[in-house]
Amino acid sequence: MNSEPFNLHSERLLLREFTVDDAPQLFALYEDADVMRYTGEEPFTSVAAVEQFLSEYPYYERDGFGRWAVIDRRSDEFLGFCGLRRDNPTPEVDLGFRFFRRFWFQGYATEAARAALSTGFGAFGLTEIIGRTMRENLASTHVLKKLGMTFREVVEEDGLFWLIYSIDQETFARQPAPAVP
Ligand SMILES: CC(C)(COP(=O)(O)OP(=O)(O)OC[C@H]1O[C@@H](n2cnc3c(N)ncnc32)[C@H](O)[C@@H]1OP(=O)(O)O)[C@@H](O)C(=O)NCCC(=O)NCCS
Repeated sequence: MNSEPFNLHSERLLLREFTVDDAPQLFALYEDADVMRYTGEEPFTSVAAVEQFLSEYPYYERDGFGRWAVIDRRSDEFLGFCGLRRDNPTPEVDLGFRFFRRFWFQGYATEAARAALSTGFGAFGLTEIIGRTMRENLASTHVLKKLGMTFREVVEEDGLFWLIYSIDQETFARQPAPAVP
């Protein structure tokens, strides 16, 4: 059966599955050293490398969810990405977000992440979602806390310290509705 690609909406944002056509935007996002500073990841080497990555992206088909492109519903601009990902070898699902610098401080990460958590706990029936953030990444840590996540542990990998936050379905459901930005 060939079903429609998954997408979801929030007040200002559309979260939709990446397509290969998003490669130039994703390449540009990964080119900015300020965006990448606390991600532990490297930029792509070319737009073609991103096309390859997106064409082989396994998560939507395997789990139904993955990282989603975040689009401004009014202007249709590509702002960045946000979404859920189940990474082997652990069965845990983690929340991630990354936006072009010019869109920071406007509440987009929080809004997109709330939509992602809501659909993760709702449509996808998850019981717990974690957030991993580098110890130095104060903005990301702040977003995780705003979402109602609580600190679980710190994990060291190759000299980098990652804070693990988490939230379960019941705690998320008990939260008051957020104010409209
Ligand atoms: C982390 C990131 C996604 C936040 O996006 P954003 O859209 O600016 O986030 P929001 O506007 O929803 O919320 C950010 C909050 O952090 C706060 N904040 C920002 N920088 C901060 C800092 N250095 N120290 C403390 N708080 C900070 C903001 O004031 C805001 O809180 P408020 O709403 O209470 O004022 C964005 O900075 C980003 O893309 N960073 C690079 C990629 C990254 O590090 N991703 C996460 C790890 S993979």
